[in-house]
Amino acid sequence: MRTIGIQPAIRPMPDKDAVHQLLLRRWNDDCIIFGGRAYDSRDFQAHGAYDGEGMLLALALWLVRGKVALLGAVDSVVPGAGASSALIAFVRREARAQGATRLRAVTTNDNAAALVYYQKQGFRLDTLFVGSVDAFRGRDNPNFRRVGFNGLPVRDTLELEMEL
Ligand SMILES: CC(C)(COP(=O)(O)OP(=O)(O)OC[C@H]1O[C@@H](n2cnc3c(N)ncnc32)[C@H](O)[C@@H]1OP(=O)(O)O)[C@@H](O)C(=O)NCCC(=O)NCCS
Repeated sequence: MRTIGIQPAIRPMPDKDAVHQLLLRRWNDDCIIFGGRAYDSRDFQAHGAYDGEGMLLALALWLVRGKVALLGAVDSVVPGAGASSALIAFVRREARAQGATRLRAVTTNDNAAALVYYQKQGFRLDTLFVGSVDAFRGRDNPNFRRVGFNGLPVRDTLELEMEL
């Protein structure tokens, strides 16, 4: 349900282990593959979007590396409330303030919803890393999820980008 006119409060989530545990509970893993390199949530800074009662609506993982900012994930605990979009707007502002000129996002081949969502947010498709998840499984984590949304095999990562 969308809460019209009420902007969530964006706050840092400094306890990286708590964020890690939250994502493990929600998704079983918090691995993020960017440009063929594997990260987990603790490599990023996390911000949460909260409602007036302090309930977490969504969280974003992001970092700035020189001119490029990476959006590791947005995850909506309460979908459809505009919280993820508020977080992306926040990350855009912060990353620009920290000197980044481009923001990149990543998702896996099975996640068609994220591809639609990110494009609605203003990202453009940029790079397909064919077999990057398969390579990660072979190299680092044989147990990384094999079946994703819509029962599709999880094999590749797709990166999107927007100018800041
Ligand atoms: C994708 C996701 C982050 C969207 O979060 P959300 O909090 O529901 O999004 P918002 O409420 O901010 O939605 C903002 C807009 O995006 C649209 N939107 C949200 N999910 C959408 C989807 N799956 N397909 C198409 N549009 C979508 C909303 O309709 C809304 O559009 P509007 O402003 O024109 O009304 C959420 O579904 C999610 O957490 N998915 C699982 C994790 C994930 O895949 N993350 C992305 C890759 S890391």
